[in-house]
Amino acid sequence: EKGGYEHFMLKEIHEQPKAYRDTMRGRMNAEGNKVILPELNLTEEQIKNIRNIQIVACGTAYNAGLVGRNLIESLVRIPVENDIASEYRYRAPIVTPETLVIVVSQSGETADTLAALREGQANGAHVLAITNVVGSSIAREANSVLVTLAGPEIAVASTKAYTSQLIAFTLLGLYLAEVRSTQSEPEVAKILAAMQSLPEQVEVILAQKDVLKAYAEQIAVHKHLFFIGRGVDYAVAQEGSLKLKEISYIHSEAYAAGELKHGTLALIEEGVPVIALATQESVLEKTVSNIKEVKARGAHVLAVTHEEHKDDLLRSVDQVFVIPQTLPLLTAALSVVSLQLLAYYASLALGHDVDKPRNLAKSVTVE
Ligand code: F6R
Repeated sequence: EKGGYEHFMLKEIHEQPKAYRDTMRGRMNAEGNKVILPELNLTEEQIKNIRNIQIVACGTAYNAGLVGRNLIESLVRIPVENDIASEYRYRAPIVTPETLVIVVSQSGETADTLAALREGQANGAHVLAITNVVGSSIAREANSVLVTLAGPEIAVASTKAYTSQLIAFTLLGLYLAEVRSTQSEPEVAKILAAMQSLPEQVEVILAQKDVLKAYAEQIAVHKHLFFIGRGVDYAVAQEGSLKLKEISYIHSEAYAAGELKHGTLALIEEGVPVIALATQESVLEKTVSNIKEVKARGAHVLAVTHEEHKDDLLRSVDQVFVIPQTLPLLTAALSVVSLQLLAYYASLALGHDVDKPRNLAKSVTVE
């Protein structure tokens, strides 16, 4: 049932190209310049009236929402907030009938996320669920459901569900952009074309897993490490950090690269590994100066970036992992795969139960 893989997690990491294709299938027109989402029970008028969006979820699904915010704000220019589901209700969120609440849940059964859905509906908002389980409680109660077609996810650490959520957010962002005319047809076509290359680009990363395994074995001897990045790279850093903690039990923190010098830099000592996500051209120079700050304190830095920035980065870091070139908006769907593999191999090197990490359950139905 593990299809020849040692663990479900590794199998599921390898199923991502298929999950991307399945989640995209049938959701764009033949010309490749329009997204079609008939499952959204929102009229054009309702979409045009959306004033704000709240994305609510837990754990990895929350982290997917961070990327979702970046996508939607860039594509549609509607203000988006991210909320942890267990916090949402208690902060008395400002929800109106012009708010779109998006709940994200692989299982569709997470108690706090379900409660957030009900909170949104009680305030008159349309609640759109992004979920992997069609018959789940969240899918049944939501006003609209955008299904991710990742297939069953068995490993406790979520991988293909997260990346399929990124695909779903991209499709949703493009659809909202069409209705609200915030992106031109050629722009949409360009993004859709780039999305269709993602599955084979993931394969390119998977083919380099030995490089990540070797790096994982290097970091497995450390007690603490850091992930840094800016913008969407920061969102991915948060997911990479969660994945690593969850299954390898190595303590790590994700920091917005520019925030380090406001305190955390004190924790960087000789040899501490820092994984720097540096895929965003527009802030690359800034990220590089943050990398130099940690290098100056003795950190051992691995940068994840594109080929075109490799040589540049090699001047300031110890190692570079190259991911295939895509649009800045879509890099998360590639860079995160390298961090999933890193977490997997670190857990393996430490001899932990990769698929069933201690103290965690696949579906959390208590608040
Ligand atoms: C981490 C992980 C958890 C879940 C979280 C939400 O790898 O799997 O953080 O993402 O418990 O679960 P769902 O998405 O089922 O609501």
